[in-house]
Amino acid sequence: NIVLPLGNGFNLPEKPQKTLLVGGGVGVAPLLYLGKKLKENGSEVVFLLGARSASDLMQIACFEEFGKVLITTEDGSEGERGFVTQHSVWQNNFDKIFSCGPTPMMKAVAKLAQEKEIDCEVSLENTMACGLGACLCCVTDTKEGHKCVCTDGPVFNIKELKW
Ligand code: FES
Repeated sequence: NIVLPLGNGFNLPEKPQKTLLVGGGVGVAPLLYLGKKLKENGSEVVFLLGARSASDLMQIACFEEFGKVLITTEDGSEGERGFVTQHSVWQNNFDKIFSCGPTPMMKAVAKLAQEKEIDCEVSLENTMACGLGACLCCVTDTKEGHKCVCTDGPVFNIKELKW
């Protein structure tokens, strides 16, 4: 059985924007559909995907259908060596950043976005059991108190979070 839809999603901009989509690990996957929707609304899409090594990167051609793909790997086997936050693309300006991946990565992305005063949404990967707001195992601390990532998220604007 499947229960859907649950939670919220990324907010698509009303007007076309220059967007940077930053993903790491399994967090790369949801950025593909987001990139497709952003391209459909006329936005410029740049994917910045991070992995430990080239062998951890999958289906890059699918992402290239919707935007420019930039890569960082920790061992330097593909793209620029290092973490996504160290990529040279950060020298450019963007209207909006979307991110999904490990929490330390998203926190580092959020810090850069704050420094550059770029609006930023992140999709949290907290552990979830029920998905319906009943078990409270997924709560995250926000400026308005604890919120369930499964029902109030998983997408939050970084302005809402206590990061
Ligand atoms: Fe149970 Fe969120 S997963 S309350």
